[in-house]
Amino acid sequence: MTRPPDPPGIHGPMADLYDVFVDWEGRLGREMPGIVKRLRETDARRVLDAGCGTGRHVAALLREGFDAHGADVSEEMLAQARAFTGAPGRFHAWRMGDPPPDLGAPFDALLCLGNVWPQVLDVDAALLAFRRLVRPGGLVLVGLKAVEARRAGKDPFMPLLKRMHEGRPLWFIRFVDFEDAEFAHLHMVVVGGDAAFHRSTRMRVWSPGTLRGAFERAGFRDVSVSARIGEPGVAPTTEDVFVHARA
Ligand SMILES: C[S@@+](CC[C@H](N)C(=O)[O-])C[C@H]1O[C@@H](n2cnc3c(N)ncnc32)[C@H](O)[C@@H]1O
Repeated sequence: MTRPPDPPGIHGPMADLYDVFVDWEGRLGREMPGIVKRLRETDARRVLDAGCGTGRHVAALLREGFDAHGADVSEEMLAQARAFTGAPGRFHAWRMGDPPPDLGAPFDALLCLGNVWPQVLDVDAALLAFRRLVRPGGLVLVGLKAVEARRAGKDPFMPLLKRMHEGRPLWFIRFVDFEDAEFAHLHMVVVGGDAAFHRSTRMRVWSPGTLRGAFERAGFRDVSVSARIGEPGVAPTTEDVFVHARA
């Protein structure tokens, strides 16, 4: 059975369920102190969240006093971000891989969080765009699952998540299927009652070494692949990593 490739970005039922899937209170509680620390260390004021999804990081950054903007390829995610923040002018349509439209560059920092980066297949074009968007010396902070670490463990499954939605349990089942050395498919099955919904996303298989090499070849400096969002230089022990780099 052949079918056309899925368009990039999160669409349809998955877009509607994204904020059910993510425990935003827990996640922002874990991530924001480190993000704010790194932004303050860079004297950052204008920040772009690339692959901003439903806009929760932009909203949290606005609360912290930053001039935050978001960009995403999915109009459905952008619509949610505009409605949630009540700041529609801060959200822009951009597919990483295409030349950026006028997003109001230069930014002092660019964030790309929540495993967007492995979904960016045109890496060279995206890194060139990052360099154009961020002022010299500005911060690039990318959070992702570098799933090469998972291959050796031979465990395709990510933790099973149960969420309550409209009074009923929803189960999120995720697993990684390796296509070859470079690419894998991240499958997500959402099960609720007797119904199930499936989507798979083709993504790049990154490791700390290949991440560092790609950013360095693209001209970034002080590149570090760290286990911590708020601190470069901490050796990763799991697939969850953060690239810290300077434009
Ligand atoms: C898993 S969500 C992450 C959203 C948010 N950054 C977070 O941390 O929760 C991935 C987001 O990246 C977007 N996306 C995927 N590929 C993209 C691309 N090439 N350019 C821009 N956005 C992309 C999707 O539409 C989706 O909103």
